[in-house]
Amino acid sequence: MNIFILGGTGSIGSAVTAELVAHNHRVIGLCRSDASEQKLRSLGAHPWRGDLRRPSSWRAALAQVDVVIQLAANFDQDMAAVDAAAITAIQQEARSRLTPLRVLYTGGCWLYGETGDQAACESSPKRPIPAFAWMQENALPLLQDPGLSSCIIHPAMTYHEEGGGVFSRMLGQAASGAPLEVWGSIHTRWPLVHRRDLARAYRLLAEQPDQCGHFNVAAQGGVPVRDILDEIIRRHPHDGAYVVRNRKYVMFKYGTWAEGPTLDQQMNADKIQQACGWAPEIRDFTQAAF
Ligand SMILES: NC(=O)c1ccc[n+]([C@@H]2O[C@H](COP(=O)([O-])OP(=O)(O)OC[C@H]3O[C@@H](n4cnc5c(N)ncnc54)[C@H](OP(=O)(O)O)[C@@H]3O)[C@@H](O)[C@H]2O)c1
Repeated sequence: MNIFILGGTGSIGSAVTAELVAHNHRVIGLCRSDASEQKLRSLGAHPWRGDLRRPSSWRAALAQVDVVIQLAANFDQDMAAVDAAAITAIQQEARSRLTPLRVLYTGGCWLYGETGDQAACESSPKRPIPAFAWMQENALPLLQDPGLSSCIIHPAMTYHEEGGGVFSRMLGQAASGAPLEVWGSIHTRWPLVHRRDLARAYRLLAEQPDQCGHFNVAAQGGVPVRDILDEIIRRHPHDGAYVVRNRKYVMFKYGTWAEGPTLDQQMNADKIQQACGWAPEIRDFTQAAF
């Protein structure tokens, strides 16, 4: 298939690009710098120079593909508006087609809010943290547009071997010997997935255009932060000291997005397993390199 990826150089997007190329898909990736262009080439993708903020710079690429994947995020104040404008461009392109354009959009586990013991499945109410409420709003037109065949993929907290992903903050503290900072509570649970397993979910959904709607992707439904901390300490010469920061503190210090890691969440990924035969290769983060 011909696939256009926005954010194909990112933490998740680079794994998705590699997975698609490895399965003989032709991948065109948006890039805004020489470094990103080089990265896409090294992953085996075809760079398309442009900027997420200027859909006119990449809209022509959509005409060449069967699938578009949105994994770009600029994490600035105008992130919601930039994302909405990108969606509008995708919808406009789809109008000129005879068959629906396949779209994979990225949401996230934080759109479910705190779940406690009730694991969130795709039909669970969405109670996004305010910092990411826009994502749920932006996803709606994608699901309602008859010119599109859309999936909203909700990745669990994603980790990997190049810096750790969601573990990176605690890994950095462990490496420096500083007390590990726990956000919220040591009992908070995080749904987890390795990015290679997540990338396979994107590929499978790209290849199966009849599968639409919301899809959760988690290999472990809810891992206590205590277990993550213990594993990080086990891998470093560290005295095990940690300090708990409450939600108010971390949101004030790091920004409103920092509410996300303080949520006690469990997420169920049965739907994608049944719909596409997806299964994680890494079912236990303690067995992975990170
Ligand atoms: N990481 C997680 O655990 C997780 C979990 C659930 C959901 N998500 C969601 O998944 C999405 C991707 O997350 P991530 O962690 O992979 O992010 P990331 O590593 O920061 O990657 C962001 C990507 O967006 C691109 N980008 C940013 N601004 C751009 C612009 N103006 N023009 C073109 N490209 C631009 C970056 O390209 P450059 O190479 O130019 O920087 C990069 O490829 C986000 O929406 C995030 O909220 C992440």
